[in-house]
Amino acid sequence: MEHGEGRVATLKERTQESEKGRFGTVVQTSMSRSQVALLGLGLLLMLLLYVGLPGPLKQTSWLWGDPNVTVLAGLTPGNSPIFYREVLPLNRARRVQVVLLHGKAFNSNTWEQLGTLQLLSQRGYRAVALDLPGFGNSAPSKEASTEAGRAELLAQALRDLEVQNAVLVSPSLSGRYALPFLMRGHHQLHGFVPIAPTSTQNYTQEQFWAVKTPTLILYGELDYILARESLRQLRHLPNHSVVKLRNAGHACYLHKPQDFHVALLAFLDHLP
Ligand SMILES: *[C@@H]1O[C@H](CO)[C@@H](O)[C@H](O)[C@H]1NC(C)=O
Ligand SMILES: *[C@@H]1O[C@H](CO)[C@@H](O)[C@H](O)[C@H]1NC(C)=O
Ligand SMILES: *[C@@H]1O[C@H](CO)[C@@H](O)[C@H](O)[C@H]1NC(C)=O
Repeated sequence: MEHGEGRVATLKERTQESEKGRFGTVVQTSMSRSQVALLGLGLLLMLLLYVGLPGPLKQTSWLWGDPNVTVLAGLTPGNSPIFYREVLPLNRARRVQVVLLHGKAFNSNTWEQLGTLQLLSQRGYRAVALDLPGFGNSAPSKEASTEAGRAELLAQALRDLEVQNAVLVSPSLSGRYALPFLMRGHHQLHGFVPIAPTSTQNYTQEQFWAVKTPTLILYGELDYILARESLRQLRHLPNHSVVKLRNAGHACYLHKPQDFHVALLAFLDHLP
């Protein structure tokens, strides 16, 4: 608890700092439960129209998250401010902290709407979801145009947010950031959860072999292209396990949120 309060204090400081920044969009999301549900439903319908849904959504229990969990938001300082949403551990804090990236049609809000942030908080994890440059509330960044720049951008965001023992969750397009970061900074990562990421083709077998980070490769059974392509490469990571989500497509966490959450938590809970 003390730990959690300490973090809130540092977040408030950051909040004041970033309020002076370019955007001034520091908000503490405290909508009523029904507002959240309505907003979530609208967003989810939009997403489903966009990505297509292979089957009906079977569960709703985790979908809107826990109303007792507060999702904080802010901007990192510096030249390329990154917008983030953050949850603190609801009870005793676990050692690892989770960093969630997003695919092309999404942003950090996806992880709030899906209840992933709230669930991680309940299970004792600090979790931070980022808007990649040019998405959600993060402005585009020149730095993002090179591979080295993207790795450094992500590294800087983790430093700014003081993320300890990071586990990086990287779906789809966010591979552009996660893969270069993994290749250069894997010693900083305590876990890696690629979900059919892009950019795996840019690295050699030998480069994957050198990465000892415990890895959970997650993908949807109906993702015939990117999941297979990335799996061929990610298989060379020496310490990996694979979970295929049944009847789910490329955005498998949307199609099967409950299965996704179960697999993610099982991996996180067993990290050394
Ligand atoms: C939220 O907190 C209240 C008061 O501690 C508790 O009674 C309620 O069960 C909690 N709700 C959830 C969904 O955990
Ligand atoms: C992959 O490699 C090519 C050729 O070296 C480069 O042009 C491209 O930017 C790289 N893509 C990513 C996502 O790093
Ligand atoms: C592989 O990863 C698991 C966690 O998924 C960890 O418990 C184990 O120690 C790792 N093995 C090696 C050899 O690093």
